Amino acid sequence: MMFPAHKMNLISEKTENVLIRPAEKRDKDKLVEMYVNFHPEDRCLGLPPVSKPAIEAWVEYILDIGFSFVAEFSGKIVGHVAVLPAGDGTGELCIFVLRGYQNRGIGQKLMKKAIEMAKRKGMRGLFLTTSRCNVRAIHLFRKMGFRVVDSCYDYEMYLPLKDEKIC
Ligand SMILES: CC(C)(COP(=O)(O)OP(=O)(O)OC[C@H]1O[C@@H](n2cnc3c(N)ncnc32)[C@H](O)[C@@H]1OP(=O)(O)O)[C@@H](O)C(=O)NCCC(=O)NCCS
Repeated sequence: MMFPAHKMNLISEKTENVLIRPAEKRDKDKLVEMYVNFHPEDRCLGLPPVSKPAIEAWVEYILDIGFSFVAEFSGKIVGHVAVLPAGDGTGELCIFVLRGYQNRGIGQKLMKKAIEMAKRKGMRGLFLTTSRCNVRAIHLFRKMGFRVVDSCYDYEMYLPLKDEKIC
């Protein structure tokens, strides 16, 4: 699911010195560094993993099976959104922005790129799970068009990308 390098400029964007671009396999070390430095209080539902080996395995898995965009500032990755195909035409989305870079619109830019790419790939919809206390993330997901489809415990949210009736 890696995106061909020659198409990347079409979907990269730079504002206020933060470059939003598709992730490449060679970003692995920078992504691991971001997640090693991720603030423990910002972890959500067990992610990102805590130990460096677990982070390395998780990042490698994400880069292998899904597609990702990163936010880069001064050569450092400060934000990351990933979509992992679920096998039924939908994809699971997860997003993380380093604490010092939150609330600057980076999350929204990353989400927009991921949604655009999912549409281009013909995906049926995107889903995610977040903690019901994660008010900032829920605000962002709702703003991007996601709706809560199950709130028994955590929030399951879904964004249809094609005409689809949501129960
Ligand atoms: C959730 C997260 C990805 C958002 O990224 P971000 O770059 O901070 O997001 P943005 O700056 O683009 O947007 C944040 C929005 O939340 C709003 N917000 C901030 N704090 C809020 C709060 N306490 N309650 C409600 N909304 C809040 C902001 O005003 C902004 O919305 P607006 O554009 O309508 O004003 C980021 O905060 C993060 O990484 N959190 C920790 C990890 C996490 O929870 N990931 C999601 C797991 S599913």
